[in-house]
Amino acid sequence: MSPKPVHTVESDAARHVAIIMDGNGRWAKARGLPRTFGHRAGVNALKRTVEAAPDYGVQWLTVFGFSTENWRRPATEVSELMKLMKAYVSSDLDRLAREGVRVHVIGRRDNLTRDILDVIDRAESSTRHNDRFHLQVAFNYGGRADIADAARRYAAAVLSGETPADDGDAEALFQRYLSTAEGPPVDLIIRTSGERRLSNFLLWEAAYAELVFQDVLWPDYGPEALGAAIAEYQARERRYGGAEVDDVLAAG
Ligand code: FPP
Repeated sequence: MSPKPVHTVESDAARHVAIIMDGNGRWAKARGLPRTFGHRAGVNALKRTVEAAPDYGVQWLTVFGFSTENWRRPATEVSELMKLMKAYVSSDLDRLAREGVRVHVIGRRDNLTRDILDVIDRAESSTRHNDRFHLQVAFNYGGRADIADAARRYAAAVLSGETPADDGDAEALFQRYLSTAEGPPVDLIIRTSGERRLSNFLLWEAAYAELVFQDVLWPDYGPEALGAAIAEYQARERRYGGAEVDDVLAAG
Protein backbone atom coordinates (compact mmCIF):
# COMPACT_ATOMS: atom_id res chain seq x y z
CA MET A 1 0.00 0.00 0.00
CA SER A 2 1.36 3.44 -0.87
CA PRO A 3 0.98 6.28 1.61
CA LYS A 4 -1.02 9.30 0.53
CA PRO A 5 1.28 12.08 -0.62
CA VAL A 6 1.66 14.59 2.20
CA HIS A 7 2.40 18.27 2.03
CA THR A 8 3.49 18.63 5.62
CA VAL A 9 6.29 16.66 7.22
CA GLU A 10 5.05 14.10 9.72
CA SER A 11 7.14 12.78 12.59
CA ASP A 12 7.65 9.45 10.81
CA ALA A 13 8.48 11.12 7.50
CA ALA A 14 11.54 9.92 5.66
CA ARG A 15 13.13 13.35 5.61
CA HIS A 16 16.33 12.21 3.88
CA VAL A 17 16.04 9.41 1.31
CA ALA A 18 19.00 8.01 -0.64
CA ILE A 19 18.70 5.83 -3.74
CA ILE A 20 21.03 3.38 -5.48
CA MET A 21 19.54 3.62 -8.97
CA ASP A 22 20.34 0.10 -10.17
CA GLY A 23 19.16 -1.94 -13.14
CA ASN A 24 19.63 0.36 -16.13
CA GLY A 25 21.73 -2.21 -18.00
CA ARG A 26 19.28 -5.06 -17.41
CA TRP A 27 16.35 -2.86 -18.45
CA ALA A 28 18.08 -2.12 -21.77
CA LYS A 29 19.18 -5.74 -22.28
CA ALA A 30 15.61 -6.97 -21.80
CA ARG A 31 14.65 -4.74 -24.73
CA GLY A 32 17.59 -5.71 -26.92
CA LEU A 33 19.02 -2.19 -26.58
CA PRO A 34 22.56 -1.02 -25.76
CA ARG A 35 23.18 -0.33 -22.04
CA THR A 36 23.43 3.41 -22.69
CA PHE A 37 19.72 3.47 -23.56
CA GLY A 38 19.05 2.15 -20.07
CA HIS A 39 20.98 5.06 -18.55
CA ARG A 40 19.05 7.53 -20.69
CA ALA A 41 15.76 6.02 -19.49
CA GLY A 42 17.27 6.21 -15.99
CA VAL A 43 17.52 9.98 -16.25
CA ASN A 44 13.76 10.17 -16.94
CA ALA A 45 13.11 7.99 -13.89
CA LEU A 46 15.27 10.36 -11.85
CA LYS A 47 13.22 13.34 -13.08
CA ARG A 48 9.94 11.61 -12.10
CA THR A 49 11.31 10.69 -8.69
CA VAL A 50 12.69 14.17 -7.89
CA GLU A 51 9.35 15.67 -8.85
CA ALA A 52 7.37 13.29 -6.63
CA ALA A 53 9.65 13.22 -3.57
CA PRO A 54 8.47 16.45 -1.83
CA ASP A 55 4.87 15.19 -1.97
CA TYR A 56 5.93 12.30 0.28
CA GLY A 57 7.53 14.57 2.87
CA VAL A 58 11.07 14.01 1.55
CA GLN A 59 13.27 17.11 1.96
CA TRP A 60 16.62 15.68 0.91
CA LEU A 61 17.15 13.15 -1.87
CA THR A 62 20.63 11.71 -2.43
CA VAL A 63 21.17 9.63 -5.58
CA PHE A 64 24.15 7.51 -6.66
CA GLY A 65 24.93 8.78 -10.17
CA PHE A 66 28.47 7.54 -10.67
CA SER A 67 30.68 5.60 -8.29
CA THR A 68 34.46 5.60 -7.90
CA GLU A 69 34.27 2.00 -9.21
CA ASN A 70 32.28 2.94 -12.35
CA TRP A 71 35.51 4.05 -14.10
CA ARG A 72 36.10 0.32 -14.70
CA ARG A 73 33.19 0.21 -17.17
CA PRO A 74 33.87 0.41 -20.92
CA ALA A 75 35.01 3.89 -22.00
CA THR A 76 31.87 4.41 -24.12
CA GLU A 77 29.62 3.77 -21.12
CA VAL A 78 31.68 6.07 -18.85
CA SER A 79 31.49 8.80 -21.46
CA GLU A 80 27.72 8.32 -21.82
CA LEU A 81 27.26 8.69 -18.04
CA MET A 82 29.34 11.90 -18.12
CA LYS A 83 27.26 13.17 -21.05
CA LEU A 84 24.02 12.38 -19.21
CA MET A 85 25.12 14.29 -16.14
CA LYS A 86 25.76 17.32 -18.36
CA ALA A 87 22.52 16.88 -20.29
CA TYR A 88 20.48 16.50 -17.09
CA VAL A 89 21.90 19.71 -15.65
CA SER A 90 21.52 21.60 -18.95
CA SER A 91 17.92 20.56 -19.47
CA ASP A 92 16.68 20.74 -15.87
CA LEU A 93 18.76 23.29 -13.98
CA ASP A 94 16.58 26.33 -14.72
CA ARG A 95 13.45 24.50 -13.67
CA LEU A 96 15.05 23.06 -10.53
CA ALA A 97 16.34 26.51 -9.60
CA ARG A 98 12.89 28.08 -10.17
CA GLU A 99 11.20 25.40 -8.09
CA GLY A 100 13.37 26.07 -5.05
CA VAL A 101 15.58 23.00 -5.38
CA ARG A 102 19.14 23.26 -4.12
CA VAL A 103 21.60 20.99 -5.92
CA HIS A 104 24.59 19.51 -4.10
CA VAL A 105 27.18 17.27 -5.72
CA ILE A 106 29.30 15.02 -3.51
CA GLY A 107 32.25 12.88 -4.54
CA ARG A 108 35.83 13.34 -5.60
CA ARG A 109 36.51 16.17 -8.03
CA ASP A 110 40.14 15.30 -8.81
CA ASN A 111 39.74 13.16 -11.95
CA LEU A 112 36.72 14.87 -13.49
CA THR A 113 37.14 16.83 -16.69
CA ARG A 114 36.82 20.61 -16.85
CA ASP A 115 33.42 20.53 -18.58
CA ILE A 116 31.92 18.31 -15.86
CA LEU A 117 33.45 20.48 -13.13
CA ASP A 118 31.90 23.55 -14.76
CA VAL A 119 28.48 21.91 -14.89
CA ILE A 120 28.74 20.95 -11.21
CA ASP A 121 29.81 24.47 -10.23
CA ARG A 122 26.96 25.98 -12.22
CA ALA A 123 24.38 23.64 -10.66
CA GLU A 124 25.58 24.32 -7.13
CA SER A 125 26.09 28.06 -7.44
CA SER A 126 22.85 28.86 -9.24
CA THR A 127 20.73 27.02 -6.65
CA ARG A 128 22.70 27.97 -3.55
CA HIS A 129 19.95 30.22 -2.14
CA ASN A 130 17.22 27.58 -2.41
CA ASP A 131 16.03 25.39 0.42
CA ARG A 132 12.59 24.00 -0.45
CA PHE A 133 14.14 20.67 -1.48
CA HIS A 134 17.70 19.36 -1.66
CA LEU A 135 18.89 17.11 -4.49
CA GLN A 136 22.30 15.67 -3.68
CA VAL A 137 24.00 13.84 -6.53
CA ALA A 138 26.79 11.42 -5.59
CA PHE A 139 29.09 11.59 -8.59
CA ASN A 140 32.54 9.99 -8.64
CA TYR A 141 31.58 9.05 -5.09
CA GLY A 142 32.63 6.12 -2.93
CA GLY A 143 31.78 5.70 0.76
CA ARG A 144 35.28 4.54 1.73
CA ALA A 145 36.94 7.31 -0.29
CA ASP A 146 34.67 9.83 1.43
CA ILE A 147 35.61 8.56 4.90
CA ALA A 148 39.32 8.49 3.97
CA ASP A 149 39.11 12.05 2.59
CA ALA A 150 37.29 13.20 5.74
CA ALA A 151 40.02 11.63 7.89
CA ARG A 152 42.64 13.50 5.89
CA ARG A 153 40.83 16.84 6.29
CA TYR A 154 40.22 16.20 9.98
CA ALA A 155 43.89 15.36 10.57
CA ALA A 156 44.96 18.52 8.73
CA ALA A 157 42.53 20.62 10.80
CA VAL A 158 43.87 19.11 14.05
CA LEU A 159 47.48 19.72 12.96
CA SER A 160 46.77 23.35 12.10
CA GLY A 161 45.07 23.86 15.47
CA GLU A 162 41.74 24.72 13.81
CA THR A 163 39.96 21.72 15.39
CA PRO A 164 40.53 20.02 18.74
CA ALA A 165 41.71 16.40 18.56
CA ASP A 166 38.83 15.55 20.88
CA ASP A 167 35.93 17.57 22.24
CA GLY A 168 34.19 14.69 23.99
CA ASP A 169 32.04 13.70 21.01
CA ALA A 170 34.44 12.21 18.49
CA GLU A 171 31.70 10.97 16.12
CA ALA A 172 29.97 14.33 15.81
CA LEU A 173 33.32 16.07 15.40
CA PHE A 174 34.51 13.70 12.65
CA GLN A 175 31.15 13.70 10.84
CA ARG A 176 31.58 17.39 10.03
CA TYR A 177 34.34 16.45 7.60
CA LEU A 178 32.23 14.06 5.52
CA SER A 179 30.84 15.34 2.23
CA THR A 180 27.31 14.74 3.53
CA ALA A 181 27.81 16.93 6.62
CA GLU A 182 25.35 19.57 5.47
CA GLY A 183 22.27 17.37 5.22
CA PRO A 184 20.13 15.73 7.90
CA PRO A 185 20.75 12.07 8.86
CA VAL A 186 19.83 9.59 6.12
CA ASP A 187 16.56 7.92 7.13
CA LEU A 188 16.05 5.52 4.25
CA ILE A 189 18.31 3.94 1.63
CA ILE A 190 16.55 2.36 -1.34
CA ARG A 191 18.21 0.03 -3.85
CA THR A 192 16.33 -0.95 -6.95
CA SER A 193 16.67 -3.99 -9.22
CA GLY A 194 16.63 -6.67 -6.51
CA GLU A 195 20.34 -6.44 -5.56
CA ARG A 196 20.90 -6.36 -1.80
CA ARG A 197 24.15 -4.55 -1.23
CA LEU A 198 25.32 -1.04 -0.38
CA SER A 199 28.12 -1.15 -2.98
CA ASN A 200 30.20 1.47 -1.17
CA PHE A 201 27.34 4.01 -0.93
CA LEU A 202 26.98 6.18 2.21
CA LEU A 203 28.83 3.73 4.48
CA TRP A 204 29.02 6.01 7.52
CA GLU A 205 25.56 7.48 6.95
CA ALA A 206 23.93 4.03 6.64
CA ALA A 207 24.57 3.23 10.32
CA TYR A 208 20.94 3.77 11.39
CA ALA A 209 19.19 4.16 8.06
CA GLU A 210 16.41 1.75 7.13
CA LEU A 211 17.21 -0.25 4.00
CA VAL A 212 14.52 -1.04 1.43
CA PHE A 213 15.26 -3.25 -1.58
CA GLN A 214 12.81 -3.14 -4.45
CA ASP A 215 12.61 -5.46 -7.44
CA VAL A 216 11.81 -2.71 -9.94
CA LEU A 217 14.55 -1.79 -12.43
CA TRP A 218 15.56 1.87 -12.12
CA PRO A 219 14.21 3.06 -15.54
CA ASP A 220 10.74 1.87 -14.41
CA TYR A 221 10.94 3.81 -11.13
CA GLY A 222 8.64 6.69 -10.26
CA PRO A 223 6.13 8.09 -7.73
CA GLU A 224 4.37 4.77 -7.13
CA ALA A 225 7.53 2.82 -6.31
CA LEU A 226 8.83 5.66 -4.12
CA GLY A 227 5.50 5.69 -2.26
CA ALA A 228 5.75 1.93 -1.68
CA ALA A 229 9.30 2.27 -0.29
CA ILE A 230 8.20 5.05 2.06
CA ALA A 231 5.19 3.01 3.23
CA GLU A 232 7.57 0.17 4.08
CA TYR A 233 9.82 2.61 5.95
CA GLN A 234 6.87 3.99 7.92
CA ALA A 235 5.82 0.48 8.96
CA ARG A 236 9.22 -0.12 10.58
CA GLU A 237 10.13 0.83 14.13
CA ARG A 238 13.47 2.59 14.38
CA ARG A 239 15.23 1.84 17.64
CA TYR A 240 18.78 3.15 17.12
CA GLY A 241 20.12 0.30 19.26
CA GLY A 242 17.59 0.95 22.07
CA ALA A 243 14.60 -1.14 23.14
CA GLU A 244 11.09 -1.07 21.72
CA VAL A 245 9.07 1.79 23.21
CA ASP A 246 6.38 -0.62 24.54
CA ASP A 247 9.02 -2.77 26.27
CA VAL A 248 10.53 0.28 27.96
CA LEU A 249 7.08 1.35 29.25
CA ALA A 250 6.23 -2.20 30.41
CA ALA A 251 9.53 -2.45 32.32
CA GLY A 252 8.53 0.72 34.21
C1 FPP B 1 23.25 1.28 -12.35
O1 FPP B 1 22.68 0.52 -13.39
C2 FPP B 1 23.22 2.70 -12.64
C3 FPP B 1 24.31 3.49 -12.82
C4 FPP B 1 25.69 2.99 -12.77
C5 FPP B 1 24.21 4.92 -13.08
C6 FPP B 1 22.97 5.63 -12.65
C7 FPP B 1 22.80 6.76 -13.57
C8 FPP B 1 21.64 7.27 -14.02
C9 FPP B 1 20.32 6.88 -13.51
C10 FPP B 1 21.64 8.26 -15.10
C11 FPP B 1 22.58 9.38 -14.91
C12 FPP B 1 22.13 10.35 -13.90
C13 FPP B 1 23.01 11.20 -13.34
C14 FPP B 1 22.56 12.24 -12.38
C15 FPP B 1 24.43 11.11 -13.66
P1 FPP B 1 23.58 -0.61 -14.05
O2 FPP B 1 24.14 -0.07 -15.30
O3 FPP B 1 24.61 -1.09 -13.06
O4 FPP B 1 22.50 -1.71 -14.34
P2 FPP B 1 22.72 -3.29 -14.37
O5 FPP B 1 23.11 -3.70 -12.98
O6 FPP B 1 21.39 -3.79 -14.79
O7 FPP B 1 23.80 -3.54 -15.39
